[in-house]
Amino acid sequence: MIILKTPAEIAIMRKNGALLASVLDAVCAKVAPGTSTATLDRLAEDLIKQAGAQPAFKGYSGYPATLCTSINEEIVHGIPAEEHILNDGDIISLDIGLVKNGFYSDMATTVPVGEISPAAERLLSVTRESLWRGIKQVKIGNRLSDISHTIGSYVESEGFFVVKEYVGHGVGRSLHEDPQIPNYGPPGHGPRLQVGMVFAIEPMVKTDPDPTRVLDDGWTVVTARGGLAAHFEHTVALTETGVDVLTIRR
Ligand code: MF3
Ligand code: CO
Repeated sequence: MIILKTPAEIAIMRKNGALLASVLDAVCAKVAPGTSTATLDRLAEDLIKQAGAQPAFKGYSGYPATLCTSINEEIVHGIPAEEHILNDGDIISLDIGLVKNGFYSDMATTVPVGEISPAAERLLSVTRESLWRGIKQVKIGNRLSDISHTIGSYVESEGFFVVKEYVGHGVGRSLHEDPQIPNYGPPGHGPRLQVGMVFAIEPMVKTDPDPTRVLDDGWTVVTARGGLAAHFEHTVALTETGVDVLTIRR
């Protein structure tokens, strides 16, 4: 069941989203060769708590951190660690969530560490663009799978591959609500989009077609053959005036 949010609830989520975006910006500013992912995680947790919010992921199904930090062939759910030091030429996906006043907010981005290869640059720009193309499908008259189809067909047209094992989701008083939002599939299926729906849309894109694998830590999802992966995510609401990207600085 998709839980519709009232304008007042969306207003809370908009504030939370702006806060989350500002925290992620501050974390991104610290990304540099020589920095550990644990340092980034501490900064994220401190900033979230200073703002009177709580990290959304820490403790979720036993996840131990505020951020997910996924480097190069790591797709999602990489666990921050002192021994994970960023190197020039890496790409790092930073996934972050918070809860405040009863509502969750969820977002992710992938950024370069120093100078990266043209192929990695293209992976980042195609993945970011696929998210924004998906967001543009959040409108009255569309069905849920129009979002999925738009993301997947664009990614494939650029010669990359979407991750099929993990999906976007509804978000609100829980981090994960209905519906699931795959990043592929045919258009014109699923529920009709309605005012009050709030989604976390999150394309995960890889340079190779192989399935994914989870490392022995039980969390870190990687590409099977070491191809690069990127992940971008926004929390968005469908309002009377159209789609509103909530996880953005205002
Ligand atoms: N953005 C991810 C998601 O929506 C983060 C989940 S990490 C977890 O699923 F630790 F919370 F599971
Ligand atoms: Co999410």
